Amino acid sequence: MTMLFSPLTLRSVTLPNRIVVSPMCQYSAVDGLPDEWHLVHLGSRAVGGAGLVFTEATAVEPRGRISPQDTGLWSDAHVEAWRPIAEFVRSQGAVPGIQLGHAGFKGSTHRPFDERRGGVPDEAGGWTPVGAGAEPFAPDYRTPEPLDEAGIRRIVEDFASAAARAVDAGFQVVEVHAGHGYLLHQFYSPLVNHRTDRYGGDLANRIRLAVEVTGAVRAAVGEQVPVFVRISATDWMDGGWTVEDSAVLARGLAAAGADLIDVSSGGVVPSATIPVGPGYQLPLAGTVRRKADVPTGAVGLITDARQAEQALTDGSADLVLLGRELLRDPYWPLHAAAQLGEAVRPPAQYARAF
Ligand code: FNR
Repeated sequence: MTMLFSPLTLRSVTLPNRIVVSPMCQYSAVDGLPDEWHLVHLGSRAVGGAGLVFTEATAVEPRGRISPQDTGLWSDAHVEAWRPIAEFVRSQGAVPGIQLGHAGFKGSTHRPFDERRGGVPDEAGGWTPVGAGAEPFAPDYRTPEPLDEAGIRRIVEDFASAAARAVDAGFQVVEVHAGHGYLLHQFYSPLVNHRTDRYGGDLANRIRLAVEVTGAVRAAVGEQVPVFVRISATDWMDGGWTVEDSAVLARGLAAAGADLIDVSSGGVVPSATIPVGPGYQLPLAGTVRRKADVPTGAVGLITDARQAEQALTDGSADLVLLGRELLRDPYWPLHAAAQLGEAVRPPAQYARAF
């Protein structure tokens, strides 16, 4: 049996294979509520055979959205909107997972397919974002309000409440988004965090927020639900966050209750040069896995079944997450099974097509 199609059990949840739909914003919600688009989008990828289907980054409070059209989970109405989506994904044999996030100083921005770039003004549905400091992400982004300790505490509580709601809505895996320049990354990156309180300064202080959020999420979901944390393992900048720092962070997150570190990179400064190419983040996932002795997920230009299998067998990762390739082809897992000589198991309705 290949690794790609072998199950993985984390706490009380067994993923039927190691193929994961990477979280991808759809920028299509009104008031944070997912709708038919999200059902069809996520449902299709469950039908296509992915073992774990993650929602997009879902905001734990309204200011934590990236664009005004991001999904959220800050009220009971959001629970009811997500419930049928989680149920459908599960009915197809996949595990429904949700990524919870807070955009911090990247909040209130135009979605990529809007004509305008940068910050959304209040009169167009925008808001004043919050951040580790008072500097905007980029000149055309909105200037954040720096969080004080009371504000930080509220955000930790927002993550915990959203995590509890996620379980109520039927999600079986919860991922904390601590990468890509969003709020938790803004705190641990020395490029952005210039605070002088106990959330700034040395590495132990800068990772405090990510660790506290992870601990609060673990407490909220109980012992049965796997918790993942997505990190940016490097800022790709001199003087920035490094993969060695990430190993320290990963150990702290695991101690706080994380089961798997989903290893991505970049996003906290617009000027970094990222060496993008096939599987370019795989070495980062491998380093974190070895140095922190934690399970990892690998993501980033994984597009080929043999490449995915290799990432698992060479010890880079325990799971592979695919983003754009699964947008191009929701049935990638079925094609990958055929390519690797595994049993191809389409839904019965599609059996004559595969
Ligand atoms: C993304 N990505 C992303 N990442 C994340 O952690 N949360 C998110 O909500 C999003 N949103 C998002 C939207 C869209 C349209 C794309 C294409 C990407 C990043 C994504 O999960 C993945 O890490 C990258 O796309 C790299 O993987 P691929 O696409 O090369 O497989």
